[in-house]
Amino acid sequence: MAIERSLILIKPDGVKRQLTGQVISRIEAKGYVIAELKQVSATRELLEAHYEEHVGKPFYEPLVEFMLSGPLVAIVAEGHNVITGFRSLAGTTDPTTAAPGTIRGDLGRDWGLKVQQNLVHGSDSVESSRREIGIWFS
Ligand code: TYD
Ligand code: MG
Repeated sequence: MAIERSLILIKPDGVKRQLTGQVISRIEAKGYVIAELKQVSATRELLEAHYEEHVGKPFYEPLVEFMLSGPLVAIVAEGHNVITGFRSLAGTTDPTTAAPGTIRGDLGRDWGLKVQQNLVHGSDSVESSRREIGIWFS
């Protein structure tokens, strides 16, 4: 089993709601090692690179506006299968239906149609983790 690295973001809703500590606690409780961590304000350029696969989709502009709405926390976590493992810990994309026990399921709010306000991002493959770590920690 290989040790992987995942790029995790605590999105502006998580920072604003002061859930940074709770999210980090869950990452640490799982046994993942925090290799890098910083609070940053995103830029449009950074987000365009980060969300490359979503450029042009109907939710892209609202997503970018939301990601620019306040500081976020960028983390590189290390561990066995951390890429898939953290996505399980995060729960499914829509926080209104994410399973209890997950970050989005337990801490996500019912904010109507604002699916983008789902607290965290986690890389979805080895390839995207390399790309995303390069974007946020170059
Ligand atoms: P996506 O990569 O599909 O989800 P995930 O974060 O679970 O990997 O989408 C990126 C973000 O875009 C997602 O976290 C929330 C937002 N989003 C929407 O606002 N509406 C949508 O229909 C989708 C699919 C995503
Ligand atoms: Mg994704």
